[in-house]
Amino acid sequence: MIHLFQKGADESAPILVLFHGTGGNEHDLLPLARFISPASSVLSVRGNVLENGMPRFFRRLAEGVFDEADLVARTQEMKAFLGEAVEKYELDPNNLVGVGYSNGANIIGSLLFHYGDLFRAAILHHPMVPLRGLPLPDMSRLAVFIGAGANDPICSPQETEELQSLLESAGASVEVHWEHRGHQLTQTEAEAAARWFQNNL
Ligand code: MLT
Repeated sequence: MIHLFQKGADESAPILVLFHGTGGNEHDLLPLARFISPASSVLSVRGNVLENGMPRFFRRLAEGVFDEADLVARTQEMKAFLGEAVEKYELDPNNLVGVGYSNGANIIGSLLFHYGDLFRAAILHHPMVPLRGLPLPDMSRLAVFIGAGANDPICSPQETEELQSLLESAGASVEVHWEHRGHQLTQTEAEAAARWFQNNL
């Protein structure tokens, strides 16, 4: 998969694994990663599904309606890629933190729903519930930050609360930060994510 890796100044700091939003690429979230944890190594992946030329991490049938078979297949593919990247770049597999926005947050959500402990923590900006009806793995060692918008037309507040309660029911500790905005990732939301990272990791 197309990706970039930047070794950080502190190799013991959590490794940030970045997943962009629809139409983005592996460069988009680098400033956010530097803001959250300047010394961390960063692995940033480009989604390999194209929707009218826009990279994504899995197909959708319409806005907010996921192609579930593709989502499951892409989730397995991403897990395999992360395993290869951990070996190639000699990373500690127990020190990965997923950071994603929108479609990128949704592929992290699906990785968590399938594999539980792939990440030690996740920072999800404007995520949805990736899949319903799945028996969830144990997430009792997982810490999750969710950034949400009270007026987000894509991820409704109800869906944010549903995701929070699904993650908590599997044992994850979840903090939700609300912005009175829409789907955009604001500076104050990035600041809240950085504070959460410093307090929890
Ligand atoms: C998705 O398709 O993952 C969500 O609708 C968010 C988006 O990428 O627009």
